[in-house]
Amino acid sequence: MASSTSLPLVSVTLSFKGQNVTLENLSTSTTGTDLYEQTRKVFSIPETTELKLLFKGKKVGLEDHIFTSVPTQTKKKTPPKIMVMATSSSTISHIASQRSDPLIRGFDKEQQKQTSTKNAAITGGYWGRHTQDKNYKFCKIQACDWQSFGHRPNEKTPHEFQAQRLLERLANDPGIVAIMKERELVVNTLGEMDPIDDRLMQKTEASGGCLLGYNTNRGLRIDIKLRTDDLQAFRPYPSLVATLIHELSHNWVGEHDLVFWTNFGQMRAEYLYWHLHHTREFVHGKTTAELAELPTSSKHKIFEFIMQELLRDMHQHGLHPNSIQAPIRQRCDELDATYNRGRRLGGDDKNLSAREKALEAAERRRRQGQQPENKE
Ligand code: NI
Repeated sequence: MASSTSLPLVSVTLSFKGQNVTLENLSTSTTGTDLYEQTRKVFSIPETTELKLLFKGKKVGLEDHIFTSVPTQTKKKTPPKIMVMATSSSTISHIASQRSDPLIRGFDKEQQKQTSTKNAAITGGYWGRHTQDKNYKFCKIQACDWQSFGHRPNEKTPHEFQAQRLLERLANDPGIVAIMKERELVVNTLGEMDPIDDRLMQKTEASGGCLLGYNTNRGLRIDIKLRTDDLQAFRPYPSLVATLIHELSHNWVGEHDLVFWTNFGQMRAEYLYWHLHHTREFVHGKTTAELAELPTSSKHKIFEFIMQELLRDMHQHGLHPNSIQAPIRQRCDELDATYNRGRRLGGDDKNLSAREKALEAAERRRRQGQQPENKE
């Protein structure tokens, strides 16, 4: 757009392995390609290393002009930060080798055979064939070890490996994957919030933050409080999911304002629609909605479900969801159209892949085999 030479210059700070370098010669015409090039130069990162730039938790695309969408940044004293992530092949194999999880073998042998040796820390197994997206994902998953909060695994508190599995379940949850893909999100680490780290608690409380989760550097790292206060169990899965989506919403908005809640509500819609409209596929004999512990009765009341949830959550911040009804309704309508289009056009079966049909038939046979009189 701007053709004059008086484009305002914008600064940005690149952060790579704790090292910060500020680029001051950028403008609204700077593209992602320029940024990647300058970053390689500044940190001497060779072309053979895969590079990812994260701005506000989102990967910078080659065509992106990141400053057109954030013009106010130029007035700020501290330049916005871009996280630089370089992945060499040795780093990747390190992540893959982190899964020396002794539970894996006993936990679900059948599943173990299927996923075999490939990256189980990332690919999960709880959701069957559903795994994280290749590009938009949580790169690392990290539970707290018992030393960090002083509880040995043979006491009643769930073992570190169970916490790790729970984080994997969250990361691979197809409803969460749908959100990550839709919004092109990359989060470096999904971690367990130390359940008895008082310092962190005070910090989050003082900043009016959330006690159930923590978002560091706009999505560079998200930590979720997995355990109940008495450490005897994990919090219910659906509330862990809600916390994770809440933290993802902080990738865009730091405050708990109306923009934040609108974004949150829309992501909740994306999550619920995914699960409540994939009810014909079975994983380990259950629908994913059942695996996500969602009430399938709310399929046609997703909007109402979200508004109720918002009423409760926003109340804690002195807000009411009435004024953000419209954009959330709109997102629900869009999703309604997306998920129901196929059904109207071609009838149910034609929209299932051959694989899905086979799975469904196998599941039907299995169920009939178990309970010959049950016709659903
Ligand atoms: Ni929050």
